[in-house]
Amino acid sequence: MTAPATRSVRLTGWGRYAPSQVLTNADLERMVETTDEWIVSRTGIRERRVAAAHESTASMAAVAGLRAIHTAGLDPDDIDVIIVGTLTPDYWMPSTAALVKEAIGNTRASAFDVMAACSGFVYGYATATAYIQAGLARNVLVIGSELLTRFLDYTDRSTCILFGDGAGAVVLSASDEPTAPTGIELTTEPQGAYMIWLPAGGSVAPPSSETIGRGQHKIRMEGRETYRFATRTLASTALTAVDKAGWGPGDVDLFVPHQANIRIIEAVAKGLDLPMDRMYVNLDRYGNTSAASVPIALAEAVNEGRVNVGDRLVFVAFGAGFTSGAVAMEWTADPARGRDADDAVRPESVHVRPPVDWDSVDPIPPALAEILARPLPVELDLSDVVPDEPAQAQPVAR
Ligand code: ACO
Repeated sequence: MTAPATRSVRLTGWGRYAPSQVLTNADLERMVETTDEWIVSRTGIRERRVAAAHESTASMAAVAGLRAIHTAGLDPDDIDVIIVGTLTPDYWMPSTAALVKEAIGNTRASAFDVMAACSGFVYGYATATAYIQAGLARNVLVIGSELLTRFLDYTDRSTCILFGDGAGAVVLSASDEPTAPTGIELTTEPQGAYMIWLPAGGSVAPPSSETIGRGQHKIRMEGRETYRFATRTLASTALTAVDKAGWGPGDVDLFVPHQANIRIIEAVAKGLDLPMDRMYVNLDRYGNTSAASVPIALAEAVNEGRVNVGDRLVFVAFGAGFTSGAVAMEWTADPARGRDADDAVRPESVHVRPPVDWDSVDPIPPALAEILARPLPVELDLSDVVPDEPAQAQPVAR
């Protein structure tokens, strides 16, 4: 008896959301002993986004998710499963995915979070692929969303300069078209478990005034060890996924790597003997957004015209755990479909329901209060006001 053929999986939608407020290296120079020169030369990061007080991991995820659903040409209720990769959930429970389900107006989907740190989106992508191949779902929404700026120690210059907030999403759908080549590789190396971690708040060290006093609710990282792991594993995980797809590294049109550090991406390109123009990079504008990093980069690469039908793509991530994951896939969707998603889904129209008796606290770390209080930069079209005057960025009060 022959085994039933697995169903074909296609990426049909993509979207991203980044909060408006920008935290620059110059801002960080005023907070810790660092310089723009050090941050740019050691990491490639110039600025990152910071979520406003009314935003959360779920609200950003919902905006990115709705944009991906819009790009796919689907209704929210067409989604059968919602998977959110995050290490900064809104709450310990319920899952962020459950909140996203309600916020996007879906009534049917099962929803759960994936915890694999910065590899969370790629792990979610692999899970969604398996659901569809097994016939358990037709359309799966996979989101990476992170609000890291509320979990950083703004006295630790080696971590607080690295991270930012945002969300990215894709829709994977069952297809009657033949399966396009795909290779997926996931790894976990627990000897790195305490190289990037957040010590307190879990069952080993439940939250208490003592854990708060010790500063144990903030991300800690051994940068050099993480760097070594990242360079080695990103290249090997990507290579294995490429090999599983039946390709060589030179066959890949675009790598969309985890946006942690430009030197890590350069080392991977060198290791794979590829020019840097095969590596998509946007970490200069967003820093490391953990599980959101790959889907934000993917959506921007496609919308900027870097991806064509038939292109071979590799998404590859690494993170705490140590985890890593890579997906090699052939692009089949019309790249133009995503271009109006940001206008079609406005963040102000998406709401996550708060608890009935919620006594809200100010979620903004004191070190960021001044930055979040300043006017937002917005694009104003002045051509109607002053003839022949080009549009330019103007600060406006919120
Ligand atoms: N500004 C100025 N100096 C700094 C800063 C800063 N922001 N941060 C560290 N330094 C200093 C250090 O104190 C050290 O000084 P010393 O020599 O007097 O002791 C010096 O710079 C060199 O420090 P290194 O740690 O060796 O610097 P390195 O070149 O390794 O860069 C970095 C540090 C950027 C953190 C790098 O190690 C890195 O990117 N590691 C990987 C991090 C990463 O990707 N993490 C995300 C994982 S994903 C997840 O799951 C969350």
